[in-house]
Amino acid sequence: MEYVDLYLIHFPARLKGEKRFVFNGDDVIPLDMKGTWEAMEECNRLGLAKAIGVSNFSCKKLEQLLVHAKILPAVNQVEMHPLWKQTQLREFCSEKGIHISAYSPLGGVGVIWGTPAVLANQEIKSIAESKGKSAAQVCLRWAFQNGVSFLPKSFNKERLKENSEIFDWELSGEDMKRLNLLPQKRVALAEAYVSPNGVFKSCDELWDGEL
Ligand SMILES: NC(=O)c1ccc[n+]([C@@H]2O[C@H](COP(=O)([O-])OP(=O)(O)OC[C@H]3O[C@@H](n4cnc5c(N)ncnc54)[C@H](OP(=O)(O)O)[C@@H]3O)[C@@H](O)[C@H]2O)c1
Repeated sequence: MEYVDLYLIHFPARLKGEKRFVFNGDDVIPLDMKGTWEAMEECNRLGLAKAIGVSNFSCKKLEQLLVHAKILPAVNQVEMHPLWKQTQLREFCSEKGIHISAYSPLGGVGVIWGTPAVLANQEIKSIAESKGKSAAQVCLRWAFQNGVSFLPKSFNKERLKENSEIFDWELSGEDMKRLNLLPQKRVALAEAYVSPNGVFKSCDELWDGEL
């Protein structure tokens, strides 16, 4: 490829040496926020990345990045579904003009960082039944009506089709109200980045209280 459409900083942390997917909190070192974002901006200026952004950034970490940024991050890709609405972060990003993209919009059922709780939620299932839709479709339509982009993943042909069939019907104001009243809890805590002696001593510190 000569360029990518969108290039993201995956996580607001670095790993020591050659560490990639297998690591613990002691392998984590602080992100060079200024240097990394300057390099991202250079990729954008050179045309290698049409847009640049971040992922898993809290309001506080975005604020730290914005101090240095000449180019605003186009996107912050974060966990978002009806059980983790990201209200505070969405308000912050909306004020700054940063688009939110929702990962694990179905709760990440079946993946190590995810939970079956979203698709198994009784309120979501009851709304789905009343509309003749699936719980997954309700979650994706909810994300769509909240004005974010969303990244459902499926390796299954039928479910891929099902997930795309959300644009010719809508959730009512009452449905949205019911979904917006669901108890909130971040699912993907990313505990692997946390260690009592590390850069992030708790999940609370890692996510700057956005739990
Ligand atoms: N930036 C980050 O840090 C970050 C973190 C996590 C994820 N992501 C990205 O976000 C995307 C999706 O996230 P995710 O995989 O965590 O979560 P997800 O899309 O919420 O959930 C995926 C799971 O849901 C199942 N599924 C898909 N459609 C379904 C349906 N209609 N009914 C029932 N089950 C369904 C899939 O199984 P089948 O394949 O069997 O259908 C898979 O097990 C991925 O592209 C991932 O790379 C980014």
